[in-house]
Amino acid sequence: MSQKKFPQHFLWGASTASHQVEGNNHNDWSKWEKKNADRLAKESQGKFLHNPHWKNFEIEATNPQNYISGLACDHYHRFESDFDLIVDLGMNAHRFSLEWSRIEPEEGMFDETEIAHYRSVLYALKQRKIVPLVTLWHWTIPLWLAEKGGMEHKDFPVYFARYVEKIVQTLGSDIHFWITQNEPDVVSAHAYLKGAWPPQKKNFFAYYAVLKNLIRAHKTSYVIIKKYFPDAEVGIAKHNIWFEAVGNTLINRLLKKIADFFWNDWFLRKIKNEQDFIGLNHYNHHRINGGFNKNENKIQTDFGWEYYPESIYFAVSELKRYNKPIYITEHGIADSNDRLRPQFIKESLGALHRAITDGADVRGYLHWSLMDNFEWDKGYFLRFGLIAVDFKTLMRTPRPSAILYADICKTNTLSTEDHVTEN
Ligand code: BGC
Repeated sequence: MSQKKFPQHFLWGASTASHQVEGNNHNDWSKWEKKNADRLAKESQGKFLHNPHWKNFEIEATNPQNYISGLACDHYHRFESDFDLIVDLGMNAHRFSLEWSRIEPEEGMFDETEIAHYRSVLYALKQRKIVPLVTLWHWTIPLWLAEKGGMEHKDFPVYFARYVEKIVQTLGSDIHFWITQNEPDVVSAHAYLKGAWPPQKKNFFAYYAVLKNLIRAHKTSYVIIKKYFPDAEVGIAKHNIWFEAVGNTLINRLLKKIADFFWNDWFLRKIKNEQDFIGLNHYNHHRINGGFNKNENKIQTDFGWEYYPESIYFAVSELKRYNKPIYITEHGIADSNDRLRPQFIKESLGALHRAITDGADVRGYLHWSLMDNFEWDKGYFLRFGLIAVDFKTLMRTPRPSAILYADICKTNTLSTEDHVTEN
């Protein structure tokens, strides 16, 4: 039997984001969902044409209701019992995000009741000895700011800084790990380059302006947090892809260099002096062979993404050059019947352990996601949860993968005995 022990004080947990789990938010996304639900339902068939699992979720995906976040998991009211489940599952950490639109619903007016809500959330974690990793912004924007131009507005960094300073002053003493932004690269590209997410602009100059704003917003927030709490650890959650150059040919290596430069490294380099750790969100492997995305796709998740657990070894190893502690802030698969997830957890944690043995300073792993939730413009049919949520009754049921993961969290060890329960 092999026993793969993880480093001492390793953080084990799962992640969520406010808009995806809380329910009843009023922000740019909730407004956009209502306007776009019919269109998204109609377009779903075409978008998922090549997905081998389409038949399993066709009914849900073609129903406009699927695309409206609504009550979500009602985590806003159920956080205490959800945190009890976290304890049952042996986790010692939890990543969640604060909802800016609740905290500052009107320009410059902070809602003390909502701040008190998040104070209770932090307190509930503390009582259960769960270390919080707090994301200050996971994509959603208060309506007043969206109306002014959102991320593109020249003063976005100033508005962001004012919000951050309020949080630091009111909740800061209970937070050690700060994630200022979730995947700034993904949200800017989807919203301003692809034109798929609100505000659906397709304009390279706007995209670039947004990136610059997000960099400034992060840097300013870093300084603010450190001013009040010099020992706090601050970073972002960065979406990195493992670009694999097949066969070591010149062209493939060149393409990999370009992809790494623009997608993986550019943002991280810009903020290298203002981050204490790297938060890695990892989902994708792109095989490069004369062109991008030549994946073999032997197995696909419900999303249609390639099942490739080994990828995390490479994504993490490539971060070693930054010489910073690494936390895996998201990593998971859409897999509604838990057909692949147990194996995915075992294989990818094996690969992660190997990266650690080879010298990567990884200090925590937070699976995406704690529970099924609202998957942005895909709505509810893609299920990333360790815990299944019945969206009619809101009942929570840990999946077999959650039980397997719990054993790893509790023992800080991946053992070959962690068996996979068949569904
Ligand atoms: C995002 C999550 C999302 C997940 C799965 C990540 O890029 O941070 O909000 O649910 O991917 O698509």
